[in-house]
Amino acid sequence: MKLWGGRFTQATHKEVDAFNASIPFDYRMYAEDIEGSVAHSKMLHKQGFFTDAELKAVVTELASLKKEIEAGNIDWKIEYEDIHMHIEALLTEKLGATAKKIHTARSRNDQVALDFKLYAKKQAVAAKEQLINLVLLLAEIAQEHTETILPGFTHLQHAQPITLAHHLMAYVEMFARDIERMESTLERMNLSPLGAGALATTTLDIDPLFTAKELGFSGVMRNSLDAVSDRDYLLELMNHNALIMMHLSRFSEELIIWNSTEFGYIRFEDAFATGSSMMPQKKNPDLPELIRGKTGRVYGSLVSLLTTMKALPLAYNKDMQEDKEAFFNSSDTVSQCLSIFTFLIAGGILFNKEKMFASAKKGYLNATDLADYLVEHDVPFRDAHHIVGELVALAIEKGVSLEELALSDYQSIHADIDSSVYGFLALEACVKRRNQPGGPAPNRVLDHINFIKNQY
Ligand code: ARG
Repeated sequence: MKLWGGRFTQATHKEVDAFNASIPFDYRMYAEDIEGSVAHSKMLHKQGFFTDAELKAVVTELASLKKEIEAGNIDWKIEYEDIHMHIEALLTEKLGATAKKIHTARSRNDQVALDFKLYAKKQAVAAKEQLINLVLLLAEIAQEHTETILPGFTHLQHAQPITLAHHLMAYVEMFARDIERMESTLERMNLSPLGAGALATTTLDIDPLFTAKELGFSGVMRNSLDAVSDRDYLLELMNHNALIMMHLSRFSEELIIWNSTEFGYIRFEDAFATGSSMMPQKKNPDLPELIRGKTGRVYGSLVSLLTTMKALPLAYNKDMQEDKEAFFNSSDTVSQCLSIFTFLIAGGILFNKEKMFASAKKGYLNATDLADYLVEHDVPFRDAHHIVGELVALAIEKGVSLEELALSDYQSIHADIDSSVYGFLALEACVKRRNQPGGPAPNRVLDHINFIKNQY
C-alpha cells in the first residue's frame, strides 16, 4: 500500500512505478532528509504534536536508520518512489503509529525543496574548498616561476614576453571569481523552504523559523509558492560549475598545446599520461583532454534544467524531479575534474624553462618594447610603430632577432637608436619594465601571489 494510497483502488503498474520513481538516484539525499525530519520532529514536539517519548523514539530511530543506510543494509525499493517516502516507510516499519505523525504539516514538496537545498549547499562548500586548494597550489608554483620567461600570445601568435607565474596567476584570478560566485549563491541559499507544505503552508500551528534555525538557515522563505518551486539556486550553482569547467577546459587546452612536440613547454610524468594501442612512441595527455571533454556534460546539464524549468506553472510539478540527475551530473563532474586537475598540477607536470625561453626568443616579442624605446626618445608612437615594423622586416629578411641586428642596421632606419637598445631589448628587461598593476614584472606578480595567499 502506498503512503498516499487512500483514494486509489488499484495497485500502481510496475512500469509506472519504475518510470515515476526517483529513489534510484535521490537516495543520495538520505542524510539531508533525515536531518530535515529530525528538525521537523523537534518543531512538532515544541508545538505539542509529539510527546517527549514520541520525539525521542523518532529521533533515535532516524539516527539508527542513518547508520543502517551507511552500512549498506538498506535495499532501496522502487515502490516507495523516493527517498522521502522511503525513509518514512522504514520509520513506520520500526515505530508504527508514532512514525505516522512525522508528516504532520509537511509535504514532499517542501521536504524535497529543503533536502536538495541542504545537499546543494554542501556541494557548493565542497567545490569552494577544492577551488581554494587549487588556487593556493597554483600560487605556490607561480612563486617559483616569477622569472621564467615564455611568450605571451594573442591569436595564438607570439605577442609580448610574460612569465609562467603571470600566466598561472591569470587562472588563479578565474578560479578566485569562481569561489566568489559560490559564496554569493550560498548567501542566497540562506532561507528555508520548510513549512511551505504542498504550496500554501498549513492551517496547523507550526514554527518554521524554529526549523530554519535548527537547520542552519537564517530565516524562512517569504512566499510558500516560491519556496516549493524555486530551483534558481541549483541553476546558479550549475552556472558556476559551467564556468569552472570552462576555466579548467581552457587551462587543459593550454597544457595539451604546451605538451605538443611543437611547443615542448611541459611534459607529463609517465604516471599521469597514457599510451597508444598501436603507436608505440605515443604518450598522450588524456587527463586534460577528458577534462576538456567533460565540460560538455556540465554545460548540458545546465541547459537541460533551464529548459525543464522554463514553462512550469506554479507551484510544484513532477518535471522538477529532473533537477536531481542534472545537478548530480554537474556537481559530480566538477568535483572529479577539480580533484584530478589539482592532482595533475601538483605532481604531474614538468616545466621546461629552457624551451619556454628559447621560444620567447623567437617571434619578435620585444617589438613593442622597441617602439616604446623610440617613444622614450621622443618619437610619436605611431611613427615608432612604423619604424619598428621596418626593423622587424629587415630582421626577418636577415633571419635574425631584433637584438641580433647590427647597430648600423638600426641606425640606417633611425639615427637616434644607440647601443643602449640591446640591454633594453633583453627579454628579462622587457618583462621587468612591465611594472604596471596586473603586469608581468616579477615584483608585481609576487605582490599578487602574496595577496592570494593572504586571502585564502
Ligand atoms: N521525488 C520528488 C522530486 O524529486 C519529490 C517531490 C514529489 N512531490 C509530489 N507531489 N509528487 O521532485
